[in-house]
Amino acid sequence: MSALKHLAIIMDGNGRWAKQRGKMRTQGHREGIKTLREITKWCAKNHIAYLTLYAFSTENWNRPQTEVDFLMKLLEKYLIKERQTYLQNDIRFKTIGDMRAFNDPLKQTIQALQADTAHNTTLTQILALNYGSKDEIKRACEKIIQTQAYKHTSDTLKLIESHLDTQGIPDVDLLIRTGGEIRLSNFLLWQASYAELFFTPTLWPDFAPSELAEIIAHFKQRDRRFGGL
Ligand code: IPE
Ligand code: IPE
Ligand code: MG
Repeated sequence: MSALKHLAIIMDGNGRWAKQRGKMRTQGHREGIKTLREITKWCAKNHIAYLTLYAFSTENWNRPQTEVDFLMKLLEKYLIKERQTYLQNDIRFKTIGDMRAFNDPLKQTIQALQADTAHNTTLTQILALNYGSKDEIKRACEKIIQTQAYKHTSDTLKLIESHLDTQGIPDVDLLIRTGGEIRLSNFLLWQASYAELFFTPTLWPDFAPSELAEIIAHFKQRDRRFGGL
């Protein structure tokens, strides 16, 4: 039986979900928020310690400005509205990615929710916002060079890991991507280097806790050898 401590999800397929129904892409994102809430609550109830969700990539700035603006507003509203969900379900909120790109109200909302939920322990929900693995590793290298931290360590691997946004968080055990694409799109390349991967054609707004439970049941049967026998 493989243990599941850290689950990571690439939430993909909102736009196609909307298109299939003749709706605006923004409707798909709205619907996706509901899935985000349900999946997060399910993970808290089922004692998964860490849930990382890819919400906005460093490449997503390439979308039309109207969609980017919509996503930023949706995110801010979600974080304000969901405060009770985090508190009632004992969920700690964290982010990975470069928050400097966001406007002040969004940054403040993020900081406030992080502070208000800092002592919750059942589930840590980590939203990847303006996140890209290459950018994360680049920022880590820059910090190590600027502070000359490399001069004071004999363990370079530990040094790198302690400068990543995921510092202190265990590596990913299971990585799921919804929406049918078989790629990682610059998500957790370092942290998922030994993760079990699972790709489902289900579009994110249709992804239900029952499907997650099935995927986890399969995951538990997998033999994770980590290079050994
Ligand atoms: C994922 O859904 C959500 C974000 C990237 C913010 P998409 O918006 O990528 O949906 P598709 O892939 O176009 O269907
Ligand atoms: C990955 O989805 C990013 C998020 C889910 C936030 P994309 O839809 O942006 O990825 P590509 O463009 O298909 O690689
Ligand atoms: Mg997509």
